[in-house]
Amino acid sequence: MKWWYMLPVLLLCLLAIGLWQYLHRTEQSVKEPLATREAYTPQEPIQPIPLQVALNDTKVKLGEKLFHDRRLSHDNSVSCADCHNLETGGTDRRRRSIGINGAESSVNTPTVFNSGFNFRQFWDGRAETLEDQIDGPINSPHELASNWQEVGAKLSASPDYVAAFEAAYQDGINPDNIRDAIATFERSLYTPNARFDQFLRGDSEALSEAEKAGYHLFKTYGCIRCHQGINIGGNLFQTFGVMGNYFTDRGNMTKADLGRFNVTGEEHDRHVFKVPSLRNAAVTPPYFHDGSATRLEDAVTIMATYQLGRKLDPSEVDLIVQFLQTLTGTYKEKPL
Ligand code: HEC
Ligand code: HEC
Repeated sequence: MKWWYMLPVLLLCLLAIGLWQYLHRTEQSVKEPLATREAYTPQEPIQPIPLQVALNDTKVKLGEKLFHDRRLSHDNSVSCADCHNLETGGTDRRRRSIGINGAESSVNTPTVFNSGFNFRQFWDGRAETLEDQIDGPINSPHELASNWQEVGAKLSASPDYVAAFEAAYQDGINPDNIRDAIATFERSLYTPNARFDQFLRGDSEALSEAEKAGYHLFKTYGCIRCHQGINIGGNLFQTFGVMGNYFTDRGNMTKADLGRFNVTGEEHDRHVFKVPSLRNAAVTPPYFHDGSATRLEDAVTIMATYQLGRKLDPSEVDLIVQFLQTLTGTYKEKPL
């Protein structure tokens, strides 16, 4: 057999390889989130929030509706959004939040913005995922005071919800799908493009000299040891009061002050909390699990005292606050 008889087979093979590579490449460029292609200063201990996160839009829209729906509470009076108001930084800006029948929560409401980047949920980290977290407010007598059976029945009585769940899930309305829709919506609550993130991506003009000096203090004084990563927090548990007893000094100790001890019962978890994210801190007062600090200046001073054993002078506090103010990002392209 002459060798060139093999030529068509060879050509076909080459064509197949080319086609495979082409398909593979387009698939990758669709899947790859935009931000992984954005250059940023990799040696920094904080990473920028991706400019885009790929999520199922049908589920996001359904989750958004549920998040704002007061029927999720026993007497149809409270929704997730009443405490996590997206117009006010994803919080209610109260020291304690008010749930059903005026019940007060035992801790300050954290923001839902960027909660998808936290390694655990709640101040004491008792929920592993956003999906698990949702059972908390649904059942809590201080929040929605309902249960899955009641929520399921109310939603099933609404033709709109029946249709929306059928469009998003094969098996319609059930607790897993309700959790999934709300959690998917929460993952859409990321806030990219803070001035600080622009700086991380290489725009050195994005920050003023004072803001850069504040960031420098934040790193050199050691705030960064606890507040770091994509959420500038949200990836560690730490004791509140490493260098002094915050709780004795404040007085009126509550059960919630025990933090993670309430979850594990371990002595070393006494007063241990999830380090909160500092993203959007400028728009989410008051601060700490007890909501005791009304101004960012107070929170920074308390942190320096009890976490670092350092007394900052007012100009240093001011520089750090100026840096923290650059962490406010955007949601749906509008600043928070
Ligand atoms: C009455 C006010 C209130 C309502 C209603 C409420 N929450 Fe919360 N939420 C809180 C409080 C307070 C916490 C902190 C509780 C804790 O850490 O023990 C919290 C914590 C969270 C967290 C954890 C954030 C983090 O960084 O740890 C998420 C996520 C969340 N809520 C989502 C929801 C969703 C979803 C709903 C509706 C199904 C909802 N919340 C309803 C007050 C409320
Ligand atoms: C040893 C770890 C650690 C260090 C160091 C540390 N923090 Fe914190 N930070 C925490 C923990 C834990 C909390 C939550 C405390 C609580 O409310 O229970 C917190 C809370 C905060 C809050 C309040 C956030 C909110 O939404 O309520 C701010 C602001 C803050 N820290 C800023 C700073 C600054 C600025 C520094 C440096 C001067 C610093 N932190 C150093 C662990 C730390």
